[in-house]
Amino acid sequence: MTEGEKRVTSIDVDGVRDAVRKKYVHVARTPEGRFQYPVGRAGALAVGYDPALLAAVPEAVLSFFCGVGNPFALGAITAGDAVLDVGCGAGIDLVIAQHLAGPRGRASGVDLIPEMADRARLNVGLAGAAADVVVGAAEALPYDDGTFDVVISNGSFNLSPLKAQSFGEVWRVLRPGGRLQCADIVLQEALPPEVANSLEAWSE
Ligand SMILES: C[S@@+](CC[C@H](N)C(=O)[O-])C[C@H]1O[C@@H](n2cnc3c(N)ncnc32)[C@H](O)[C@@H]1O
Repeated sequence: MTEGEKRVTSIDVDGVRDAVRKKYVHVARTPEGRFQYPVGRAGALAVGYDPALLAAVPEAVLSFFCGVGNPFALGAITAGDAVLDVGCGAGIDLVIAQHLAGPRGRASGVDLIPEMADRARLNVGLAGAAADVVVGAAEALPYDDGTFDVVISNGSFNLSPLKAQSFGEVWRVLRPGGRLQCADIVLQEALPPEVANSLEAWSE
């Protein structure tokens, strides 16, 4: 077992999921006051979303945005692409991905928290998009091998207690030559143990 694997197995996976669940049940109602960075339209503009792209998203849907960056800045999604959004949250990126993939393409979203998936379905409907949403974990994606051209994600992998497994799942569901466009929070140095072992810190 490598040092990395030893660290992974010492994580309380169920505890992390419970902590994440507690936070995102509230975020499914409103993200206001739950994040230490701007959310909604202001948040999307702050991390560089093209205002022209945001025009595809109704204002009531955009108010739920709580991403940490802009996965669309990392590569072009083109008409006909099959796109998966891991940790799709309230579905803002899903609506944009479906808009870019067009009627010949497909956008699918997966989220760990049923309340978030419900919100995403509602928002996708409000936006008149054809995207589909399922409940599932990044660590065990409910899709066949080689299903997608592009996987996007925005602020979700930092919440996964089993990151290597989650990235392995991304590679599995991507077609050969497919790509991951991921915006996320990364550590630049090791956390003090009292923070690393704090379940609250996982969902801040
Ligand atoms: C910061 S939010 C990002 C939401 C959305 N991407 C956005 O930009 O507004 C993170 C999302 O990841 C989901 N999530 C957390 N852990 C997950 C996991 N292990 N597998 C799948 N989704 C997860 C949460 O429920 C939440 O909806």
